[in-house]
Amino acid sequence: SSAMAEERSLAMVTCTAPVNIAVIKYWGKRDNDLILPINSSLSVTLHQDQLKTTTTAAASRDFTEDRLWLNGEEADVGHPRLQACLREVRRLARKRRGGSAEDAAPLSLSYKIHIATENNFPTAAGLASSAAGYACLVSALARLYGVEGELSEVARRGSGSACRSMFGGFVQWQRGERPDGRDSLAHQVAPETHWPELRVLVLVVSGEKKQVGSTAGMQTSVDTSPLLKHRAEAVVPERLALMMRHIRERDFEGFAQLTMQDSNQFHATCLDTFPPIFYLNDLSRQIIALAHRFNAHHGHTKVAYTFDAGPNAVIFMLADTVGEFVEVVRRSFPPATNGDQFVRGLPVGSASLPEELLAAVVTEPVPGAVRYILHTKPGPGPQLLDDPSQHLLGVDGLPRRCA
Ligand code: DP6
Repeated sequence: SSAMAEERSLAMVTCTAPVNIAVIKYWGKRDNDLILPINSSLSVTLHQDQLKTTTTAAASRDFTEDRLWLNGEEADVGHPRLQACLREVRRLARKRRGGSAEDAAPLSLSYKIHIATENNFPTAAGLASSAAGYACLVSALARLYGVEGELSEVARRGSGSACRSMFGGFVQWQRGERPDGRDSLAHQVAPETHWPELRVLVLVVSGEKKQVGSTAGMQTSVDTSPLLKHRAEAVVPERLALMMRHIRERDFEGFAQLTMQDSNQFHATCLDTFPPIFYLNDLSRQIIALAHRFNAHHGHTKVAYTFDAGPNAVIFMLADTVGEFVEVVRRSFPPATNGDQFVRGLPVGSASLPEELLAAVVTEPVPGAVRYILHTKPGPGPQLLDDPSQHLLGVDGLPRRCA
């Protein structure tokens, strides 16, 4: 037994984790508590230079209660999904320690914990942050307690899509068969280095905040949409196999077409939900039409859009298309005020548009509709930050800086 090992009094770990965007969508649970999906899904992990969550987790003998800070503001630690993640990481830690006696200085599992988390992008941007958030929380807690191995199962308990943010590159979340969810896991299909030319533009749109959340929306869809049932049973299995092949072969046209089709079918299941749910709006439809005009003008599929449970558009393309497509977006949705900050993230080369492309693709401009464009690419999974100066909590266990 390792009962003699001395317990450390303060331990602190900081991790970062990425956002992911699904190209085969997850929509619908077969178990709400365990967060088990009705179909498998596949996503691309985005680079953390542009979009990431950072989380510091600390445990100390001196803490008197569990506490949580989100972007500098104290928040409720009692959230059932957060509690589920904490419970599961501790359970894995206990299991591991029971199995081996060589752990030199085990951190007491009874210590209270402090967690601080922040995003490097504005929450107001409406970019899905729960996936990165829970992936980051689970990564940090696992490091804190010395747990290794299968963690996507734990992140899944925070938010379904979070299990895919536990890996970089191209990631599949396998539906699984078991009622206990032990086989409902994420794994990497290909690393981010597999497709170096692939680029992503996030079109962050103005206004619109309150729609139906994913959790509630997909529940109503499961209860009422026959199209969703058909999708999960008959459409997704075939599409998943096809999408894996397109990725393996780096077939952009195949990848792009299927990505658009799957986004559209997801939104069709939302319309098929009763009462219906609308995540696409007029601007989304204008962006969809713009992408199709752009592709039609070129005579092949050069860009692909995908939309989640909100109005921001995510557009895939190869690197040599970015300059031209950004210019098309700028002409179609000219910036209202922040003209200099309209394009953010990775550099975008300037492109001049041929007149006939302008005439064929750009219709009546809608100023201010797109707030900004974020240029990014596929990236790696969660990272451990070694430098203590990057901790979000000080040695007193309180946030170092406020939002
Ligand atoms: C449309 O993972 O946010 O983004 O599991 O209830 O937390 P919960 O839902 P969430 O749903 C994401 C839905 C989606 C599609 C996707 O990411 O696959």
